[in-house]
Amino acid sequence: MTQLTKTLPSGDELPMVGLGTWNIGGETVKDSVRAGLDAGYTHIDTAEGYKNEAEIGEVLADYDREELFLTSKVLPKNLDYESVIASCEASLERLGTDYLDLYLVHWPNPAISLRETLNAMAHLHEEGLVRNVGVSNFSAYQLSAAHHVSDVPIAVNQIEYQPWHTQDDVVEYCDETDTVVEAAAPLGRTEVLGDETVQDIAEQYDKSPAQVVLRWAVENDVVVLPKSTSAEHIEQNLDVFDWELDDADHQRIDDIDREQPVYATPARDWTGSTYGISQ
Ligand code: A2P
Repeated sequence: MTQLTKTLPSGDELPMVGLGTWNIGGETVKDSVRAGLDAGYTHIDTAEGYKNEAEIGEVLADYDREELFLTSKVLPKNLDYESVIASCEASLERLGTDYLDLYLVHWPNPAISLRETLNAMAHLHEEGLVRNVGVSNFSAYQLSAAHHVSDVPIAVNQIEYQPWHTQDDVVEYCDETDTVVEAAAPLGRTEVLGDETVQDIAEQYDKSPAQVVLRWAVENDVVVLPKSTSAEHIEQNLDVFDWELDDADHQRIDDIDREQPVYATPARDWTGSTYGISQ
């Protein structure tokens, strides 16, 4: 198995399949990360908001840090200058490492200056605490503002991307600006695995629906971050490099888009402890 990578503006190579860790903690996330690393994953995606960095750090201690591409994210409530720095330092402490390969703004926060946030990101970059900087859940408009004011390249935009929700305008703008697209929830939190076209193609290729969906995204140049608690699924989700979809079948999946997100909805509750805006 040869893992494909995307080259970031820094020259760093971003592995195209990474292990997602949203919504799992405790022993479950430890088992998942260990299974992933043992299966050959070299890319792990977490966030301060996932509240599992300490557990992931415990597992990482048994592996070679330099072989890994590690991403974390700062919560939208922590996007003022001092809080970005403090959040990053706390993530590093919990993960037991002295740098992140990629640090992302988890969600835009219209109540805090993006320029201030990205100045803090540039400082972290200068200090060597983060090797690459990016954003997550940014629209094309928000991403254009980020590119305009940032002193470091915005290397990545992590967004919902799955056959039922491909956000073509965002992806197109990312392509134009050499911003790598990462797919959060690439399996549509399993909903899309029941899609008729996906199932039909899976049967034809003797692959699982998950593999078909991941392969399709990789062929569209999108980095995927599938999450799983099953060692078998984890292994299977990495096996998307040594085979391909023919053009017609690939196109059938491109044509599915129903603009049906599983999480990327514009309405947000700004009062919660995770996404809340401080008064
Ligand atoms: P499980 O833990 O049983 O593997 P997403 O990455 O879009 O958020 O989706 C995560 C969900 O997809 C999890 O519920 C996970 O369940 C499931 N999943 C991950 N990989 C596979 C796979 N290869 N086949 C079926 N379901 C999968």
